[in-house]
Amino acid sequence: MERRIILITGATSGVGKATAFELAKPENRLLLVARNKKKGEELKNEISSRQPKADVELLFADLSLQKDIKNLVADFKVKYDKLDALINCAGLVSSERIETKEGIEQTLAVNYLSHYLLSHLLIDELKNADQGRIINVASLIPPIAKINFNDINSKKNYNGVNAYLQSKVADVMFTYDLAEQLKNTNVTVNAVHPGIVKTNLGVETSKGALQGFVRFCMSFIAITPEKSAERVLFLANSKSLSKTTGKYFKSGLNPVRTNSFSYNLDYRVKLSELTLQLIG
Ligand SMILES: NC(=O)c1ccc[n+]([C@@H]2O[C@H](COP(=O)([O-])OP(=O)(O)OC[C@H]3O[C@@H](n4cnc5c(N)ncnc54)[C@H](OP(=O)(O)O)[C@@H]3O)[C@@H](O)[C@H]2O)c1
Repeated sequence: MERRIILITGATSGVGKATAFELAKPENRLLLVARNKKKGEELKNEISSRQPKADVELLFADLSLQKDIKNLVADFKVKYDKLDALINCAGLVSSERIETKEGIEQTLAVNYLSHYLLSHLLIDELKNADQGRIINVASLIPPIAKINFNDINSKKNYNGVNAYLQSKVADVMFTYDLAEQLKNTNVTVNAVHPGIVKTNLGVETSKGALQGFVRFCMSFIAITPEKSAERVLFLANSKSLSKTTGKYFKSGLNPVRTNSFSYNLDYRVKLSELTLQLIG
């Protein structure tokens, strides 16, 4: 049987790391994207010592930078002409507004634009697989989650929770749009809420009320990364989902609807136009 080629971002910690351990099997070639060389190499060594037959390769990119994402894709394309699964898991939440060297607020850049760009730039390789899958690790999408179209880069007013929710609702909106564009192909694209999970998310980057919320979740209600990874693995592996596309999953085996904002076609067109401006 031909090996599945799987690329996963955010694999150096939390949900992505637990997912990577499960995917590190001889029947897969697993490409791990890390921004930190030392962390990436430690992860690769850890996987290899637990799974000596795992077929793992490291790629490096700071996913807040479009330049790095394009270099990552170029490196991938030199070696591979197909991609069976792209798991966009990298993400962050931060109390502080940080702008990337490319002038984009970092939550938007990593949680949304990196997922968007990788998915679009790797479409041809996903189409070359028997059944390509894009899995966007999103979040809860509460009714208040929306895009601030007048200030998507949070220049005038920054709030870490709002920036996070905006990036995640954008992630599911582009999931729905891309699924629509790919409906006559063999590529599916779905989003998943990984649960409230005990990871490093926000541990070092939150302050005040957000820090209190993160600590409360991590101490009292969070599930383990391994339990959370089951949700991502279901979308990556389940044969029953080979034709399911444009859906959002929470804890169950069946998709659920997100908030009404995310289905609004006018808002989706606006987001798509703004995104094209942001990626030049
Ligand atoms: N934990 C939760 O309760 C929860 C709830 C809902 C949704 N999620 C989502 O689940 C996903 C995984 O998060 P997690 O909880 O596992 O958090 P985590 O432990 O903090 O892991 C985040 C991962 O993203 C990577 N990352 C962040 N910024 C990056 C950048 N600029 N370039 C490259 N990689 C970058 C991190 O790399 P480093 O290791 O180098 O930092 C790490 O591998 C995220 O999309 C998050 O929004 C989590």
